[in-house]
Amino acid sequence: MELIFSPIWAFALKLTLLLVVMSSLSDCYDPLDPNGNITVTFDTHKWTDDGYMARVTIQNYYQYRHVEKQGWKLGWTWAEDEVILSMSGAFATEQGNCSSFKFQTPPHSCLKNPVIVDLEPTAAPEIMTEDCCHGGILSAWAIIPSNSFSSFEIMVGNLKGNTYGNKPLNLTLMAPGPGYTCSPIEDTDPTVSLVIGGRRQIQVFRTWKSTCTYSTFLSNKVPVCCVSLSTFYNPTITTCPQCSCGCRAANPSTDSCIREGSSLSQLSSGKLDIVRCTDHMCPIRVHWHVKNNYMFHWRVKLTISNYNHAKNYSDWNILVQHPGFSQNTTTYSFNSTALPTVGFADEIALFWGVAFYNNELLHADDKKLGSVTTEILLGKDSNSFTLHDGWAFPRRIYFNGENCEMPLPDTYPMLPNGSSTQKLTHPQFFLLLLCLTVKVLAIWL
Ligand SMILES: *[C@@H]1O[C@H](CO)[C@@H](O)[C@H](O)[C@H]1NC(C)=O
Ligand SMILES: *[C@@H]1O[C@H](CO)[C@@H](O)[C@H](O)[C@H]1NC(C)=O
Ligand SMILES: *[C@@H]1O[C@H](CO)[C@@H](O)[C@H](O)[C@H]1NC(C)=O
Ligand SMILES: *[C@@H]1O[C@H](CO)[C@@H](O)[C@H](O)[C@H]1NC(C)=O
Ligand SMILES: *[C@@H]1O[C@H](CO)[C@@H](O)[C@H](O)[C@H]1NC(C)=O
Ligand SMILES: *[C@@H]1O[C@H](CO)[C@@H](O)[C@H](O)[C@H]1NC(C)=O
Ligand SMILES: *[C@@H]1O[C@H](CO)[C@@H](O)[C@H](O)[C@H]1NC(C)=O
Repeated sequence: MELIFSPIWAFALKLTLLLVVMSSLSDCYDPLDPNGNITVTFDTHKWTDDGYMARVTIQNYYQYRHVEKQGWKLGWTWAEDEVILSMSGAFATEQGNCSSFKFQTPPHSCLKNPVIVDLEPTAAPEIMTEDCCHGGILSAWAIIPSNSFSSFEIMVGNLKGNTYGNKPLNLTLMAPGPGYTCSPIEDTDPTVSLVIGGRRQIQVFRTWKSTCTYSTFLSNKVPVCCVSLSTFYNPTITTCPQCSCGCRAANPSTDSCIREGSSLSQLSSGKLDIVRCTDHMCPIRVHWHVKNNYMFHWRVKLTISNYNHAKNYSDWNILVQHPGFSQNTTTYSFNSTALPTVGFADEIALFWGVAFYNNELLHADDKKLGSVTTEILLGKDSNSFTLHDGWAFPRRIYFNGENCEMPLPDTYPMLPNGSSTQKLTHPQFFLLLLCLTVKVLAIWL
């Protein structure tokens, strides 16, 4: 009883609750990219006899979350009896029942709930528009802004006297899987653009907008990634936490993973994700190796390994949160940029592959894992740099926007003793300890 009600326990309990709330919040809100969203804009720029023409733009404002192969799928519900008479730059997956329309050319889609997908870049020029046809792929905004949006043209008709038409309802976005929730479409200020070398401003007739946000919880995804650590000063390698992304079946005959040395064909496949058997069972492992400690710099080797036998990760990216990135940083084999930190002490850096060199993280095969690697040289800030207390290890890592499971601080490679005494006052260490407490409590309760 005394133990439970002592102030320190009350304090720990409060913090635990706070952390639990924070971690469940982080399922639907990413504090490192608070403004991230995918915005869908309908710009009506022309009235027709019985309808309007609109340009629909899908803009990915997520700094490090891209829309990968298979691409986006945009759906909505018409408020009345609208039909899509024609479309360019994308297409509706179903035409539906257009039998009651006596137009010269049949409408493009008469469905109440049309679903639109992108064209391939190889589509015929006459059905393309400006900024279209990327096969549904949208780059992350911080990486290639010029490829982070896509647009298409629709001609809407059959408004039956309601000459201006109604906003579509219930917008849905698959990008490519579930996980996105879109706000109701709303009127906003008309989109303006500049012509005649920027000397004249023109505007569309009206603009409707919806923003779609991603939630890990809704996407129903198991973790995809874990982190392992090593250093030059300790031979211990801290492996990924066991069962980071799932656990191996206890009975080897029911393995749902691939044993080393065996090939994909031996597995009754068909699934998209087929990973190598490991204790962590993650398709992606990120390894952080503290490689050298120089007078004015320190060097890290960062390796991303693909344990998935059936998937290449095209245009992968990884985000690393580490206070060391506040110093001059040179990355040798990846592209990188620093991201703005809003209310965070630790800097965040984003890394991605160099085109035609390592932007494709290849799948594993029976002989080896797919991997990409770089060395990073960081400047030293004599006030903060230390090899103690796990300071040299990353605070947080995301792969393609998904959180990677970190090992527990008590498993971090330690400095050999004798070099110096432990500094227990470091705030980071306190946080790590707290995190550990929470995890232990979680197991306990
Ligand atoms: C969507 O992202 C843009 C760019 O970051 C931002 O300006 C806008 O406010 C965001 N919209 C919402 C509703 O969060
Ligand atoms: C198609 O629509 C017309 C007119 O609304 C209707 O009469 C017809 O039964 C529909 N056909 C099918 C196969 O649903
Ligand atoms: C839109 O979605 C809401 C909630 O899912 C549903 O109640 C409503 O009927 C939908 N509206 C249309 C027109 O489909
Ligand atoms: C992965 O990329 C390689 C090389 O481009 C290609 O040969 C292979 O078929 C791709 N694998 C998958 C599963 O897409
Ligand atoms: C950062 O490092 C690069 C390469 O070592 C060097 O050229 C540059 O001057 C440095 N910048 C600063 C601000 O120290
Ligand atoms: C990546 O780096 C390469 C070589 O440094 C550069 O040519 C390319 O423009 C960079 N790509 C992006 C998207 O920044
Ligand atoms: C280092 O610490 C460990 C555990 O605290 C201890 O067992 C070992 O004897 C120490 N070694 C030296 C050289 O002090």
